[in-house]
Amino acid sequence: MRLVTLTEDDDFDGWRDAAREMVAAAVPPSDVVWQVGEGPGDLFAGNDSDDTPAAPAASGGFSVPRAFLDLARSVVLHSDPTRFSLLYTLLTRLRTEPKLMEDRADPLLRRLDLLAKDVRRDIHKMRAFLRFRELDEGGTPRFVAWFEPDHHIVRANAGFFIDRFASMRWSILTPAISIHWDGKKLEQGPGAAKSDAPGGDPIEDVWKTYYASIFNPARVKVGAMLKEMPRKYWKNMPETALVPGLIAGAQARESGMITTAREAVGGNIELAWEALRDEAAGCTRCPLYKDATQTVFGEGPVDARLMFVGEQPGDQEDLAGKPFVGPAGQVFDRAIAEAGIDRARVYVTNAVKHFKFEQRGKRRIHSKPGAGEIEACRWWIDQERMLVKPQVTVALGATAARSLLGRVVTIGRERGRAIELPDGGGEAWITVHPSFLLRLPDEAARAQEYARFVEDLRMAAGRVSAA
Ligand code: URA
Repeated sequence: MRLVTLTEDDDFDGWRDAAREMVAAAVPPSDVVWQVGEGPGDLFAGNDSDDTPAAPAASGGFSVPRAFLDLARSVVLHSDPTRFSLLYTLLTRLRTEPKLMEDRADPLLRRLDLLAKDVRRDIHKMRAFLRFRELDEGGTPRFVAWFEPDHHIVRANAGFFIDRFASMRWSILTPAISIHWDGKKLEQGPGAAKSDAPGGDPIEDVWKTYYASIFNPARVKVGAMLKEMPRKYWKNMPETALVPGLIAGAQARESGMITTAREAVGGNIELAWEALRDEAAGCTRCPLYKDATQTVFGEGPVDARLMFVGEQPGDQEDLAGKPFVGPAGQVFDRAIAEAGIDRARVYVTNAVKHFKFEQRGKRRIHSKPGAGEIEACRWWIDQERMLVKPQVTVALGATAARSLLGRVVTIGRERGRAIELPDGGGEAWITVHPSFLLRLPDEAARAQEYARFVEDLRMAAGRVSAA
């Protein structure tokens, strides 16, 4: 298994260099784990002995079509953590299928096209909805804007703002980075908070009056509005400060539906699960919600017979809002596939639903959840288990095992056998967490532990068909 560490989320050059070398050395996509960061330090890294790409092959003789490079340049900016690996898979296929870029029906190419489309849309939103506010900086004006992109588009989009506002001094603040133009050069700074950007100014009152006069609540189509102008942009645009009040009626109807859905648990599990997920999105049961980006709820079919429980979302999961999509998720996906398990048919969740981390400079370093956080979050996992009712629940690592069994668990002692869940919720199987494998410094030990992990998963899955 190779661990490739890119320096930035939009590190196209790093991806291209690593991919070029590995494709020349015929490294299969399934052997590569991609991550962004600076190597060891978080739960999912820590393996510096294997984070360099393969040595370049003697001769490549393999040139890729321009369409591929254009696609890759866009896709790399997406926030989907699988983007590097999907692109590498496409690259390896191009070697033997040189006309692949013309086959728009190919599922992988279609998926990558959709990612590129998301990125283009986000770039367009930034250009259309970003609003500068004027600040007086020692007698000279500086225009400052706050923006929350969905993808890693800020650096790639800087040229547009430089061209358009070349003679102004401006700053664009976003949660991940800030960029500053002084009329001659562009500088980059750390991410910011919305409170760092100035609020409204008198010019905005004009807009508000104008907007209120043209807004017709009877015509409001929330779905269409959200599509064109997602809710998160509303708060940064003066005219839209009025919108929430105007559509409050629609929202009240929505919460009524959720209550009804919750009452109908016996009848419509899917709806009850959605209500539970929506409720978890606003969870404040422990302080972890304050620093995390969002609640990362479980996902998978609500009638899954096999459930996997991890520890807590990592950095990538926190950003994507989905469990097991970062480096540990890549190991997990590969291992379950080898164990004959289809991810689309299992339910995957975490014991703790918010990312707990320590900020060190630009990096967010994973910290282990404490007993209080695990306990607070049992509320959610217990309800997920009640709805899904899996026959077998696999605990990935000690935190998950502790959450499920309500006691401290030593993995080495309890793995590899069925354990009755104390609340009568079927049987539990305990195995290691995939990030444990990523942390092993020695390749041989890693291969051995990985094989054991796959075997545990295979045994657990075997219990489902036997039950
Ligand atoms: N590790 C976990 O335990 N869960 C995730 O979702 C990702 C990494």
